[in-house]
Amino acid sequence: MKTYKIAIAGFGGVGRATASLLLSRRMRYRDVYGADVRLVAVCGSRSGVADVDGLEEEQLLTLEDGFSGPAFIEASGADILIEAGPSDFRTGGPGLAYIRSALSAGRDTIVISKGALAHSGRQLRELARGSGAMLKLSGAAAAALPTIDLVGHSLKGCEVLSVEGILNATTNYLLDAMTTRGIGFDTALREAQQGGFAEADPRNDTEGWDTACKLLILANFGLGADLDMNDLTVEGIQSITGDRIEAWRSEGLVPKLVGSLTRVNGAFRAGVGIRTYPLADPFANIRGKDKAIRIVTDAMGETIAIGSGKEPLATAAAALKDLEHILTARIANPFRY
Ligand code: HSE
Repeated sequence: MKTYKIAIAGFGGVGRATASLLLSRRMRYRDVYGADVRLVAVCGSRSGVADVDGLEEEQLLTLEDGFSGPAFIEASGADILIEAGPSDFRTGGPGLAYIRSALSAGRDTIVISKGALAHSGRQLRELARGSGAMLKLSGAAAAALPTIDLVGHSLKGCEVLSVEGILNATTNYLLDAMTTRGIGFDTALREAQQGGFAEADPRNDTEGWDTACKLLILANFGLGADLDMNDLTVEGIQSITGDRIEAWRSEGLVPKLVGSLTRVNGAFRAGVGIRTYPLADPFANIRGKDKAIRIVTDAMGETIAIGSGKEPLATAAAALKDLEHILTARIANPFRY
C-alpha cells in the first residue's frame, strides 16, 4: 500500500476541520484508493506538531511554539500540502510562502485560502507547471459550491460564454435577511458574524472583494484567463438601504451580489455588483448563506448549480475532494510522481 504524507499549514477553524475530516476518512482512502494517507504535520502561524508515522486527533490539541513556516513543512517529509491560512488578497497572505515553497519542490498543493491565488495566480500556475506539481483549489473557489470542477469536468470541451455567480455567503445572507425579514444591514451583518461565515474584516464581504477573489480564481485557474484585480469593476452592498430594498420588493425584484464573467471577442470581461432578479429566476430563490452559479456554454447551454453546507465542514470537504482527485491522478499515472 502506498503512503501519502499530508501537511496542513494554517490551523484555524478550517484547518482543524480539514485535519479531523481527513483522519476520519483514513479507512475510506485505504478501501477506495489503496492509500495509506497520513497527516504528518500541522502548523499555525507560530506553533505546530509533526509525526512522520501520522498524527492522531489527540496530538492536534497541543501544538508547540516555534514549529511553523515553509521549512517546518519541508522537514516533515510531506508530499501533499493543504494550505488553510488566513486570506489576504492585497499581499498574498501567509499562505503565499507555503504555496510557493511546496510548488517549487514539486509537492502537490491544495489551497483553501484565496489571498495567494488572487494576488499571485500567474506565478503560482507557472511554478506548478514548471515542477509538475498539481495545484487544486476548490476550497478557495466557493468551496461547497462546485465552480472550478464544473468547468473542468462537467462542461469539459465546451466554450464558456458567460458566468454569473452568487459566490459570497455573507452578502447573500444580508440581502436575503433585509428583503424577507425587513431587518437592517447592521443587524443582519451581526447575525452573519455570529454564524461564523463573515470574513474577519466583513468589509471584504460587503464591499465585494471576497466575490471578486473567487471570480478571479475561477477565471484564471478554471477558464485560462489572465486577469488581476485591476481588471475587475467591484461594487458591494454597503450602501444598500432599507428603502432601496423595499423599492425592489414592490417591483417583484430580488437583489443579489453577483460576480460575472462575459466572453467578449475571445477575452473575459469581469465585474462584481448588484443584479436584480424576478421571482421566477432560480437566482431569486437562493436563500440565506447559500451560493449559486450559472454558466452558459456554446454547446451545453445553461447550467446552474446551487451549494449550501455548514462551515467549516463544507470547506474542509471541498479541500478533501481535491485530495481524492490527486489520489485518483496519482494512481492512474504512478510514474509521473
Ligand atoms: N466570507 C465568505 C463568504 C466565506 O461569506 O462566503 C469564505 O469564503
